Amino acid sequence: MKVLAILYKGGAAAQQEPRLLGTIENQLGIREWLEKQGHEFVVTDDKEGPDSVFQKNIVDADILITTPFHPGYLTGDLVSKAKNLKLCVTAGVGSDHIDLNACVERKIQVLEVTGSNVVSVAEHVVMSILLLVRNFVPAHEMIERGDWMVSEVARNAFDLEGKVVGTIGAGRIGYRVLQRLLPFNCKELLYYDYNALPADAAKTVGVRRIDDLKDFVSQCDVITVNCPLHEGTRGLVNAELLKHVKKGAWIVNTARGAICDKDAIAAALKSGQINGYSGDVWNVQPAPKDHPWRTMKNPVGGGNGMVPHYSGTTLDAQARYASGTKTILENFFNDKPQEPANIIVGIGKYESKAYGQR
Ligand code: NAI
Repeated sequence: MKVLAILYKGGAAAQQEPRLLGTIENQLGIREWLEKQGHEFVVTDDKEGPDSVFQKNIVDADILITTPFHPGYLTGDLVSKAKNLKLCVTAGVGSDHIDLNACVERKIQVLEVTGSNVVSVAEHVVMSILLLVRNFVPAHEMIERGDWMVSEVARNAFDLEGKVVGTIGAGRIGYRVLQRLLPFNCKELLYYDYNALPADAAKTVGVRRIDDLKDFVSQCDVITVNCPLHEGTRGLVNAELLKHVKKGAWIVNTARGAICDKDAIAAALKSGQINGYSGDVWNVQPAPKDHPWRTMKNPVGGGNGMVPHYSGTTLDAQARYASGTKTILENFFNDKPQEPANIIVGIGKYESKAYGQR
């Protein structure tokens, strides 16, 4: 079979660090294994436009492996050109870069390595909440500049204790964030999700569910976004919703950039409607050099904790999603059943409840 993988470029780092498995250089550690079984393996980071290696090779690929960190966007148009395609594997979690409806229609299965990096992301979320609330980034930048003016950074630094923190999406990552927030003695933990948490899980972390999104955001000092990107969440945090957000709230989004409206977020931060925005996901990846989220600031010069998409690609996470990808391929080649939690789209239908209310 022809297996096509779109991964990110590792450069010198990948030569020096073989555990960077998600790179085009280290190829998820599966080249030898695939070739020994007689499969063809094409790996590239060249993914944009009709002349890209991705688009040229998708036409006769049987299996497509992609990663959310450098997404190969499998549009409906490309699905129709991919005549042999049977299986898409997301090396990681989050398959919104694939036209899932088109895959349902064409009976192409979409699997991801569910759970492989949820701890990695939950830790990043907690770090991002703290760095915004405590005004860490401007404080560090001051030190690098050689300056020392405590009042300039203390003027916008707070404690997390006593704040209300809410998650949009209380799945694997959202719930792990709540668990990790328990020792901080927040005033209250809230969640907004059409899937309710099991009662005992909700009780363990003491979280309260809110059904109305505007009501939810108006109560939160910190909002963390942990739902997938789909028709129902694209642009969910937009100018209208931001009007209902508590003034001076902090937003952390490590889910997908396009869940938050790019310009509305930049404007809300600039005006002080929100005090901070942090995350690692962007509406387009790689983010263009002039993307407003790179440099946006609140009125006192802080509130930006943006980084490239890497929270779910720690070396620990890479080991897990590389091995999970291999297991999915092994099951597929040997006609063995897949782990049910990994199946986003089965043959001709959605298996996951996380990609919208169907
Ligand atoms: P999950 O499937 O365990 O949980 C997602 C939750 O979001 C579900 O409970 C679902 O009901 C809820 N949800 C869906 N639509 C919603 C809506 N309209 N409003 C409120 N809640 C909604 O997924 P998991 O593992 O927690 O991952 C969540 C997302 O995080 C992934 O889909 C991916 O986009 C992102 N992610 C980001 C990573 C990174 O490196 N930054 C790495 C891994 C995941």
